[in-house]
Amino acid sequence: MCGIVGYTGMKNAAQVLLEGLSNLEYRGYDSAGISVFENNALYTVKAKGRLADLGKKLESHVLTSGCGIGHTRWATHGEPSDTNAHPHITTKLSLVHNGIIENYNQVKEFLQGKGYVFESQTDTETAAKLIDYCYQGDPEAAIREATKILEGAYAFCILFADHPGTIYCLRKDSPLIVALGEGENFVASDMPAILRFTRNYYLLEEGEIACVTPEKVTVTGPDGSPIEKKVQVASWNVEQAQKGGFDHFMIKEIYEQPTAIHSTMHPRLGHDGLPDFSASDIPGDLFQNVTKLNIIACGTAMHAGMLGKALMEKLARLPVEVDMASEFRYRDPILTQGQMALVISQSGETADSLAALRLCKQAGVPVIAIVNVAGSSIAREADYCIYTYAGPEIAVASTKAYSVQINLMYMLAVSCALQRGTMTEEAARAYLAELYATIDRVRQTLDLADTIKEYAQGLKEVSDLFFIGRGIDYALALEGSLKLKEVSYIHSEAYAAGELKHGPIALISNNVPVIAMATQRDLLPKMISNIKEVKARGGHVLLITGEDYEVDLSCCDQIMRLPIGDDAFGPMLGVIVLQMLAYFASIARGCDVDKPRNLAKSVTVE
Ligand code: AGP
Repeated sequence: MCGIVGYTGMKNAAQVLLEGLSNLEYRGYDSAGISVFENNALYTVKAKGRLADLGKKLESHVLTSGCGIGHTRWATHGEPSDTNAHPHITTKLSLVHNGIIENYNQVKEFLQGKGYVFESQTDTETAAKLIDYCYQGDPEAAIREATKILEGAYAFCILFADHPGTIYCLRKDSPLIVALGEGENFVASDMPAILRFTRNYYLLEEGEIACVTPEKVTVTGPDGSPIEKKVQVASWNVEQAQKGGFDHFMIKEIYEQPTAIHSTMHPRLGHDGLPDFSASDIPGDLFQNVTKLNIIACGTAMHAGMLGKALMEKLARLPVEVDMASEFRYRDPILTQGQMALVISQSGETADSLAALRLCKQAGVPVIAIVNVAGSSIAREADYCIYTYAGPEIAVASTKAYSVQINLMYMLAVSCALQRGTMTEEAARAYLAELYATIDRVRQTLDLADTIKEYAQGLKEVSDLFFIGRGIDYALALEGSLKLKEVSYIHSEAYAAGELKHGPIALISNNVPVIAMATQRDLLPKMISNIKEVKARGGHVLLITGEDYEVDLSCCDQIMRLPIGDDAFGPMLGVIVLQMLAYFASIARGCDVDKPRNLAKSVTVE
């Protein structure tokens, strides 16, 4: 997520901004910039790369101003570059933004019609120019006018050239605080930026606009009426603040999933309720004549690809093969004309996945990538790229990235089915409406945390554990097993439930824990048979299934019921349970859950 800092007071604004932004570096970013009032004029310096790069650029400028705004950018729309970095400026103002403007294309066309010329590829520049267009001398009126038009989630921090020393900021679905000093005041997207200076702050609410000067802060509501804000006092230290009050990044990111899924899905949902990947420059007929899709990835991303295979084959009747990239690149794959490759990667820098991408391209097979980090190698080298908007994933164990990857699998499968005539528009609309509604079911599943924690604490002394599932629940079981292994160091295996009797069931003996994933209604009877096989050999079974699924409770030792609607989306709920299970088991065993031993967040070596 981007970082915002604003300052107005007697200190050197550039120094306060750089320090504040450095406390937000943990959020991940790829460029940065500041604007300050210098001799009563707006002065802006931006740089691709790290804050150190911005600092180097600033060394050649003598900045003494006491008022400015700064930003670290996590690229969503537009590659990391000086031009795309914030602040975005016009002759009247300078603006930084956190969030996503969902209708920026339409607004941009409108402004181009009014003679505005755009330099960057960002949605933010559109917001800056729209406020410029609305500005008639009253900053708050201009901001209010513009936000009636802008759709999406955004926090703005703005300097108006003819209002030196004053910062205007607005919050809509993206957090923003105004922190209160003595003869100075601050604005930030997140507490860590300013905790060294003050612990007193206002939390802006939806649609509120703050006007911040060194002496005072006034807040008005969406209708312009003044609002009396209550001063809050931050009790966190910087590290706690970086985790948003959560104990670890992994659990914070597990709870961020509803927002991450919405941010990823909404911009691809056309006004007609059908998938629309045009903003990612994906041709509307890309899959029409594809003969086979090769999905290639590693780890969690590969598990998302396995779900993608099931969906593509079921909905679009497109043959799909899934490979772990480290195997694909050395098995001399048969790559022929008419095939397509899909490379999935959170970091966009995984060496095996990048090598597999290059192998496909060398063979003349076009590559579409699903990536979470803008401007990463896989994003740049793919022929097509669809970004996930999960925001930076700090914990080594991938959670929200998986959820947004499978969300795009659902949407791509529907798009593919429409292109190949295997799904009607009416069915596609209904399917995506249910997918969208599943976001709320994900929220409800997060409320099972206490139950999941209790079960996980029972795993503290466990040495071996099995996950079983059928169909898309098998892909889910694989992901659950990986999560548990990598953060709790408990040895676990995932098996297709029907495969147990072909050997693995020899490992089941008294009280060996088995977690059975049964989100698919049509496979439930078969799963119950497999569970009984396990129980008969002394296994201890936790069954994870739907709230209204008919189950003879004597078949398992424990049951966890999920608010599943259409079971096609069962994995989106099931994975929440498995992520939390792994997290709480890791905590119970005293492991370093955010930085597990032997692991790196991005495996950029073979
Ligand atoms: C996931 O929890 C693991 N950290 C790991 O398997 C990861 O998914 C894999 O290394 C692929 O990374 P990528 O998505 O960045 O390519």
